[in-house]
Amino acid sequence: MDKILKLNLNLSTINKEQKKKYLDKVSKIHEMIRKRLGKGNEFMDWLTWPVDYDKQEIERIIKKVNWMKSKKIETLLVIGIGGSYLGAQSAIDFIKGKIEKQDEIIFSGINISSAHIKQIERKLKNKKWGICVISKSGTTLEPALSFRYFKSLLEKKEGTDKAKDYIVVVTDNDKGALKSLANKKEYDSYSIPNGIGGRFSGMTPVGTFPMIFADIDVIEIFKGAEKAMKDFSSLENNLAYEYALTRFILYTEQNKVLEIFTTYDFDLGMMSEWWKQLFGESEGKDGKALMPLSVEYSRDLHSLGQIIQEGKSTFLETTLWIEKDHDEIIIQNDKLNLDGLNYLSGMSFHDINKKAFKGVVEAHYKSAGTPNIIITLKDKTEFSMGYLWYFFFIGVTMSSYLLEVNPFDQPGVELYKKNMFKNLGDK
Ligand code: PA5
Repeated sequence: MDKILKLNLNLSTINKEQKKKYLDKVSKIHEMIRKRLGKGNEFMDWLTWPVDYDKQEIERIIKKVNWMKSKKIETLLVIGIGGSYLGAQSAIDFIKGKIEKQDEIIFSGINISSAHIKQIERKLKNKKWGICVISKSGTTLEPALSFRYFKSLLEKKEGTDKAKDYIVVVTDNDKGALKSLANKKEYDSYSIPNGIGGRFSGMTPVGTFPMIFADIDVIEIFKGAEKAMKDFSSLENNLAYEYALTRFILYTEQNKVLEIFTTYDFDLGMMSEWWKQLFGESEGKDGKALMPLSVEYSRDLHSLGQIIQEGKSTFLETTLWIEKDHDEIIIQNDKLNLDGLNYLSGMSFHDINKKAFKGVVEAHYKSAGTPNIIITLKDKTEFSMGYLWYFFFIGVTMSSYLLEVNPFDQPGVELYKKNMFKNLGDK
């Protein structure tokens, strides 16, 4: 496969004829996106970020990470929530593997769970560690609580002076509690551009600092995203628009109110979480939107598989299939063949997974009539991942504008934060 990403809509139940009546609308939205005239357009700097990104800041990050590693810091505790952690974790799992970096990068600040904090504390006990705290607003409670706790632990362990150098902050460039704290404590800080919102910020220091610590080549991510930027800049043959329009028609005309994001790879679980945030927070407003859900096959075929096959048909399935596996295991012949699996000898796990995938699509589409959208990505490299992220950025912008909502705000999230602070007695 030469293309980085392929989109198969043959089983989507939507044909070209059905799309015709929307083409004018799509074309107008396209103009709106290119000229940045739609709702929330002040948060569209991600559009050209793959070429506009701050190269000097990347150099600074690389230097700081190298320095931290020269001081034998083996674990980075990344503190952030929502858009301030999902990009980094999904990328690290996707590129390096979910288990591979578990001791090197630990995520915290994603809940208000003392059990989680304590488990991390025990894990860090005999390690040399540093902190990367990430919050655009600088006021989000979950990461703020976690940071307060671990900062004090680190200061006790290393002394205030040393700890200062082992802590880095990623936040707004000029405002917020975290920024003032960073200034006061003289922590190294890296900025989140004003024009890029949380869920679009994986290619800013929000994602690049943890990724560089995890030995990811972020320049390749930018290159992949740049290629997607070119591929999805015009109206014609725009796969991101095709994806957005197909699911929009399924929602408005076939009452498919749920979209299940389906993966077949152990390392893609967090990518599903990232996708859920991107689509859920961008589209879910004014009583509209498809509810984004996810399943991990083949695991969930043994649980949710039943309801997907025979339950009420209110959903479509979007599969992210990875064409090439990094690691290959070939099934060996066994002399005794007591498990009866010799008929699989010579096949790889990936071959078998692919057969499972085909079997599932057949069962869900042919037997149950579930619309299937299939996205095939070439591999799990940095380049492909940057391409994929950008594909979804463009896709979610088109789909949100089709729904006539602002893709770039999240008033519902703000409301819960406000209520929680009120309940806690914060003025
Ligand atoms: O996408 C968003 O904007 C949100 O999910 C935020 O990322 C999340 O609420 C965390 O906010 P902050 O980075 O301000 O702590």
